[in-house]
Amino acid sequence: METSTITTTAQHPPMRGALPPASVSHTDIRATPAPASDFVIQTGALTKRYGQIVAVDALDLNIRRGEVYGFLGPNGAGKTTTLRMLLGLIRPTSGKVSVLGSAAGSSQSLLQVGAMIETPAFYPFLSGEDNLRVLARYSGVPESNIAPVLEQVDLLGRAGDAFRTYSLGMKQRLGVAAALLKDPALLILDEPTNGLDPAGMAEMRNLIRELGHGDRTVLLSSHLMGEIEQISDRVGIISHGTLVAEGTVTDLRGADRLLIRAEPFGEARELLSKLVGGHVSQENDMLRIDDVSGLTLNPAYVNRRLVSAGIAVHELRLERASLESVFLALTGADHDADKENHHA
Ligand SMILES: Nc1ncnc2c1ncn2[C@@H]1O[C@H](COP(=O)(O)OP(=O)(O)OP(=O)(O)O)[C@@H](O)[C@H]1O
Ligand SMILES: [Mg+2]
Repeated sequence: METSTITTTAQHPPMRGALPPASVSHTDIRATPAPASDFVIQTGALTKRYGQIVAVDALDLNIRRGEVYGFLGPNGAGKTTTLRMLLGLIRPTSGKVSVLGSAAGSSQSLLQVGAMIETPAFYPFLSGEDNLRVLARYSGVPESNIAPVLEQVDLLGRAGDAFRTYSLGMKQRLGVAAALLKDPALLILDEPTNGLDPAGMAEMRNLIRELGHGDRTVLLSSHLMGEIEQISDRVGIISHGTLVAEGTVTDLRGADRLLIRAEPFGEARELLSKLVGGHVSQENDMLRIDDVSGLTLNPAYVNRRLVSAGIAVHELRLERASLESVFLALTGADHDADKENHHA
């Protein structure tokens, strides 16, 4: 667990629109593109306006085959609107979308896409299994697919009960089962842990991780960075309809750092410079060593070296980098995207 202080200073100024360390901006990711066939989803300047409101603003998404991609953004950022456009449920105002090499919403792409958008709707008086039967018939999927997907989401035991008797977590799991019926190459889940308790969230996270194994691509939206951080291979952060950062969790998170207050300051600085070279710098009255994990530096070792050189160590603190601080810095985290309605 990350228990140390989280910082938003220096590297991650708490400013809306600020970018994380230069190496993780999404333009860099695009500088070394994978071959086109490796992208399951590509959008170019994808835009959706509702009157004066720009819900999605010139969004460029590139999602690779086989990855679990976390689409992270605060309420009103444009996540659901984007996912709806990918599924052809709504039309873009402008821009391009390609899903599995076909146009969004085309029958070729929909045959291979399973989705759960917002809260899934089912017939309340039909059992979970019968609800899936209706869906299977409708989409031409063999009924033999039903039992395995119920098993995958751990609903076999309650499959015969009416949907209306399900707990919220079970309803969400049935939604995932429905999305899995086609054994889709691409699974799109919009806030799959919405409304679940911590245990239900953990179960759903495990399920998604399992579903993301192998060739299947999973695109998952959430406003909870902790959740995205635990599941995703790569993360895209959306704010006001625009992708403000993209990269692996490790890339986005930035490096851990060690802060040291010691006396005499000059001697401490000199000794640390010998230990880590250019990685030591000054922050207020403290010395800072960046990229502690990259240097595989043990704080206890640093402490021992300072003390045995006769230097008094008043404070020594490891600051764990967190995706949360980056997310808050990038999105403003005031959840006011809804209110501001970012007019064009
Ligand atoms: N049908 C619509 N008509 C008008 N405005 C809409 C419509 N759908 C979405 N919007 C607006 O577009 C913006 C983005 O909404 P969207 O639902 O995509 O956000 P979201 O990221 O999914 O948020 P949440 O985390 O709350 O689900 C919001 O300002 C929303 O009010
Ligand atoms: Mg939404």
